[in-house]
Amino acid sequence: MARTDTYLDAMLRHLGAAYYESLHGRAAAEGRSSKDVISMQALVVYESMFGNTHVVAASIADGLRETCEVTLVPVGAARAGLVAAADLLVVGGPTHLHGLSSAGSRQAAAKAAGKQATHLSLDPDADGPGLRDWLQDPADGRALAAAFDTRLADLPVFTGRASRSIGKLLKQHGCRLIAPPESFLVNHQSTLLIGEAARARRWGAALGAAASKAHHPAHA
Ligand SMILES: Cc1cc2nc3c(=O)[nH]c(=O)nc-3n(C[C@H](O)[C@H](O)[C@H](O)COP(=O)(O)O)c2cc1C
Repeated sequence: MARTDTYLDAMLRHLGAAYYESLHGRAAAEGRSSKDVISMQALVVYESMFGNTHVVAASIADGLRETCEVTLVPVGAARAGLVAAADLLVVGGPTHLHGLSSAGSRQAAAKAAGKQATHLSLDPDADGPGLRDWLQDPADGRALAAAFDTRLADLPVFTGRASRSIGKLLKQHGCRLIAPPESFLVNHQSTLLIGEAARARRWGAALGAAASKAHHPAHA
């Protein structure tokens, strides 16, 4: 092993030991096992055609990182193993025709993005499956959960809200919602309104705090 490698190796072992010490020391001082101190695992699953829900999901993930270890995945990559490992499941998608997208509405979105006279472009994972199918069998029913959507900036009675359907389906699968479904708003050109990404980050941070309380009620 080269000299620098040896030095690095020693440093990493030192840091590892310090981390282990701090974990156990802190846990013992607070009268709980080190397992409790290890942060919660949050999984953020999103569907996105034009990228708005992707941006919002990434901002929520940033906010959650204040309290959780976070994995952010498009719905096509949200495999059962990831879901089973999550303490908190946060799921969001675009509002299409007042609710969750369908194969037909996703096709219409892809067609709209393909037109020359548009600023719209397709998200890298836009051709994956939709949340509607994934939500047939999303979780093993133990996770805390929350739902969000993106939609037009108008009264929900006119726009619909995909997050309501997402929340309902998560509940049907036994998840416990820790916040009311939330919408993040776009204009009629499908551009996220100014300030919405920052609001999504704050929402994520608040979710993480609420989930920590629900996860460790005795230490809240
Ligand atoms: C086919 C289609 C149907 C839509 N239907 C609605 C709707 O009923 N209500 C609404 O508020 N927005 C509707 N929208 C707008 C989308 O919800 C909005 O553009 C959203 O931010 C798209 O998210 P994405 O960029 O992640 O795909 C629709 C968009 C498309 C393409």
